[in-house]
Amino acid sequence: MSKTIIISNRLPLQLQIDNKKIKATPSVGGLATGMKSVHRDSNGIWIGWTGLTEEEIPADLRDEVVDATIKEQCVPVSLSEEDIDGFYYGFSNRTIWPLFHYFMEYTEFEKESWQSYVEVNEKYAEVVLDNIEEGDTVWVHDYQLMLLPALIKKERPDVQIGFFLHIPFPSYEVFRTLPWREEILKGLLGSDLIGFHTYDYQRHFLSSVSRILRHEVSFNEITLKDRIVTVNSYPMGIDYDKFSEAAAKHDAAKNQSELQRRLDLHIDSTPDAKMILSIDRLDYSKGIANRIRAYEYFLEKYPEFKEKVRLVMLAVPSRSNVPQYQLLKKEVDELVGRINGKFASVSWTPIWYFYRSMPFENLIDLYTTCEVALLTPIRDGMNLVAKEYVATRTDKKGVLILSEMAGAAQEMSEALIINPNNFEEIADALKQAIEMPEAEQIKRNKFLQKRLKRYNVEKWANDFMTSLKDTAHKSDIVKAI
Ligand code: ADP
Ligand code: G6P
Repeated sequence: MSKTIIISNRLPLQLQIDNKKIKATPSVGGLATGMKSVHRDSNGIWIGWTGLTEEEIPADLRDEVVDATIKEQCVPVSLSEEDIDGFYYGFSNRTIWPLFHYFMEYTEFEKESWQSYVEVNEKYAEVVLDNIEEGDTVWVHDYQLMLLPALIKKERPDVQIGFFLHIPFPSYEVFRTLPWREEILKGLLGSDLIGFHTYDYQRHFLSSVSRILRHEVSFNEITLKDRIVTVNSYPMGIDYDKFSEAAAKHDAAKNQSELQRRLDLHIDSTPDAKMILSIDRLDYSKGIANRIRAYEYFLEKYPEFKEKVRLVMLAVPSRSNVPQYQLLKKEVDELVGRINGKFASVSWTPIWYFYRSMPFENLIDLYTTCEVALLTPIRDGMNLVAKEYVATRTDKKGVLILSEMAGAAQEMSEALIINPNNFEEIADALKQAIEMPEAEQIKRNKFLQKRLKRYNVEKWANDFMTSLKDTAHKSDIVKAI
């Protein structure tokens, strides 16, 4: 039976060695959480990295690694420490990630890390080619694997290949600064279908293809000698039912976790106070430092809200070997310390800051308890947290404040949309959110929930796979001409 092969740098499970045993935890990030449910409902396999390097896995635990991944229909790609340094911490996260999020000043162009990126993409290609069977479909994900489609197509022109980019594709003027811009575009054009979260990212990509490679480009098609590559936007959804059902169950059986007890204590001691939530990986693209400064400005501009609000901020550790992430950690620690020191009273701490990963149940505790979500990315491909927050508001109360720089803002116009660099606007949006009448909150969330339920992650994956199947037909026509 033919199957779909999903490939991403990270598998949906992360392996660690705990007490000489292999322990698996879920991966964090939009790609992993979103694709997990698509994978669960398919009979396919998922190829990717386990989070452990070759050097970290002792010989006697190698079988355990394979067992832990097979159980989840996953196939591990073995990467060395050197690979992780050059490919992951290097080219993926010091070149592509900052460049594609418009952080030019953080972008490094290092030939060695580019070479490692090429080699690791080739390693992925080997594993994929070993696992492809007649009639299979391949779906490659994200910026770490942009050379993979062409590497597979070269060996298996018969296989339909889809590629989805989970981060923004930058404008031509930014993309053109990359010394390996041609190689990246050619790698991607090994696909039959290339998907983006928004029409703008699609437009930027097409413009780069036409100006750099000089291919003939129409509205959403690129004509190559022997094939047509289709390009389209597919805004990724969430597993809506999973979040709304978890929230409904949570409401019915409260006070289970330590975190929930602490959150409830806050409500009991200050019943009319509001909690403002933010959840992100600790990443400079998420605008965490900006958010804290804007919150400080809000407390200064509207002092009547002192003791009446609390910012609950969950930052999940991420890519901590990259210097910019270490600097951000330091900056956030200092900002939180400074603002808590400046405003706190005996009975009130303005910011509760958690720097750790939390289990799903705790995410639900936070989503369901906080009346306002404040998400202020400077650039974000989509931002699934915004969608998850709305999905968990079972009574339809709660206000989402969302940056216009997040892909999600294009589908969530009923949220309070802000410019993350405009503190005045953020402070006013916070005031508006806190004072918003319940009827208006319900009205806004009703529209948002309806849309999120309909365009869930299953629909997103089905739309993409249906378009991918259609591309086979288009290429047959080109061959016939
Ligand atoms: P990004 O993909 O850039 O990290 P998104 O907002 O699109 O940003 O996705 C973040 C995802 O990570 C969400 O699906 C969220 O539920 C998930 N997540 C956040 N914190 C945790 C955590 N502690 N454990 C597991 N998943 C988490
Ligand atoms: C974003 C990226 C994913 C990545 C995730 C977590 O969602 O689009 O490709 O997996 O962040 O980042 P990490 O570097 O830990 O895999």
